[in-house]
Parts: sequence; C-alpha cells; structure tokens
Amino acid sequence: MSARAQIPHSRPTLTAEDHASVVACLTEGSIAQGRRVEAFEAAVATRLGKAHAVATASGTSALVLALRGLEIGAGHEVVLPSYVCYAVRDAVTAAGATPVYCDIGSGWSMTPEAVERVVTPQTRAIIVVHNFGIAVPTGAFLRFGVPLIDDVCQSFGAAIEPGAVVTCASFQATKLLTTGEGGMVLTDDVRIYERVTLLRDGAHGCRGERVPAPFTDLQAALGLSQLARFETFLARRREIAAAYLGDLSGIGCRLPVDVRERSIFFRFPLRATRPFEGVRLAFMAHGIHVRRGVDALLHHAEGLPAERFPETETTFAETVCLPILPSMSDDDIARVIVATREIFS
Ligand SMILES: Cc1ncc(COP(=O)(O)O)c(C=O)c1O
Repeated sequence: MSARAQIPHSRPTLTAEDHASVVACLTEGSIAQGRRVEAFEAAVATRLGKAHAVATASGTSALVLALRGLEIGAGHEVVLPSYVCYAVRDAVTAAGATPVYCDIGSGWSMTPEAVERVVTPQTRAIIVVHNFGIAVPTGAFLRFGVPLIDDVCQSFGAAIEPGAVVTCASFQATKLLTTGEGGMVLTDDVRIYERVTLLRDGAHGCRGERVPAPFTDLQAALGLSQLARFETFLARRREIAAAYLGDLSGIGCRLPVDVRERSIFFRFPLRATRPFEGVRLAFMAHGIHVRRGVDALLHHAEGLPAERFPETETTFAETVCLPILPSMSDDDIARVIVATREIFS
C-alpha cells in the first residue's frame, strides 16, 4: 500500500487570496449582513445572468425560500428526482408541500418522460436538479405548465437553458464555489425577488412568515474571492475530466461521454457493474477516496416500490464518482488513472 498522501473525493479549493479577503473583512469589522453580501449577490447575479439575487444560509434554505416565494405550500405537490440528496426533499416538506419523486434517465438526470408519469393536477412546481455539474435541458420541462426551479447546487456556473423562474445555488464547503455554508436564490421576476427578500429579512406584515436564513459579510468575503478565480476552477476541472475520459476509455466502465458537452464536472461519475463497496475498498488501498453518486435514494425512505424507479436503482448500484478537484496535482490525476485502470482491468 502506498505511503503517499490520500486523495480525498471532496475538499474546498482555498488559497491565500481567500485568506486575505476574509482577513480584510475582519479587519474592517463589518462581519454581519452588509455591503459585502450585497456585492456578492450582485456579482453572482451577473455571473449567472439573472436580474436579482438573495443570499441565504444554505442551498436548502434557498429552496425553501424559492418555494415559499412562489407561494407553494400545504396541499401542493412538488416533483423532484429520487436520485438527489435528502436536502431537496427536506426543503419541500419545510415549505409545507408534498414531495413527489420521479425516476431519472440513463445520464444521472431527471427526464421529461419520467416527470410525465408523476405529474398530477396538484403539481405546483418541478425542481429541475442539475446533478454532478451536468446541465439538464430545462426547457424540456416547460410543457408541464408549472413553475420550474433550477437546482444548481451541484452545477453553479454550468450553461443552464432558460425556462426556470427561480434558480437555487449552494456554497457549502465542497461545492464548486464555497462560502463555508451558504446559498442563493436568483430570479428575473421582481415580485419573487421582493417576496424572498421579505421572507429572509422580515418586515412589517411578514414577520410571522420569516425563514431564518442568515448570510454574512464574512462569508461574502470568501465568496467574492472565490468568484474572482472561479473560471480557473472550472478550467482545471475540464482538464482533469479530459485526462480521465482520454486515459480511462476501454476499461469496461461507462464513462460520462454522452454528457461531456453539458457538464462542468462537479463530479466524475462512471458506471461499473461491480458492487460499490468492493470498488470503494479497492480504491482505498490506493489511498483514493471514491463515493457513490448519492448516499441513498429518496423513494426507499418513502417505502415506494423499486419497480417505479428502474433507472434510479441501476444508476445508484453502478455509479462510482472519482475525485475531480481543482486542487489536484498532475501526480494525483495520474494516480487516479493508474488505480482505476488497475481496479477495472
Ligand atoms: C442537488 C442539491 N440540492 C440541494 C443541496 C442542499 O444544499 P446545502 O447543503 O447548501 O443546504 C445540495 C447539497 O448537497 C445538493 O447537492
């Protein structure tokens, strides 16, 4: 077994610029919600091409605020894929609505065909989850005639098609861009923006409804310096993905070739037909941490029959995500390639 450093699956990309930006904020003493939060909201809105932005405590609270901003709550159904983290379901239930789960297609993402099978007259929104950095064609879901919410928590900065009324981002520690914890609601609709701002900040007539979702200048200081280097993060991810796609072809696993043009590679998923736990241990022997695409399936927690989620079930069983981090060295990348080839050959 190698004595070399472990290669984690996930870690934030933090540099001296980030330290300096946070220290400048501390030195100035403006550490609550102030002008840096406003500057970060404006910068993210510009980056994503949206008119308005409201920073929140997390991606989960961004989703809750988005749903509440759309006046979705008790008696309403919200469609989301079963193949996503619990946070998305928790946001729907926190808003008072009922989550309805759909299957995915073969590319790790929900499809209109899968949504078609679960929409009902009670459906009030569809959360279009852009998993792993892969931009799902949002416009394809417009035909259901309900508001679309883009969940870009794993795809911040991907080329997302227009169509959604609200976009929700996460800046949690291991996301594409981090503020430690944090999130954001983005929209072009001024009424949704005003309502979400009221829900976050409170005001006369809105206090009882307020959703505590604080975001501070200290976090914004980190976010602003991360955003200044964000394009270099994405470029490095693309470089690593190109190396994996080139050097891992022919290993007998399905690589994310079909989604290559639509992905910014938050994750590098491959489909292997061997049980995940054995694969994970084999990588551990090389000092490399891999993970499943998601930790669990939402329809299992609800006791729903597996037969209704065939692609979700096989994708869950077969997906292995390799480390893909801007901070990986060329040596790290070569180690992952050698180990992957060895394990699957
Ligand atoms: C697709 C997706 N949506 C929402 C969230 C929730 O974001 P947060 O952890 O910032 O609450 C996550 C976080 O892992 C996520 O991956």
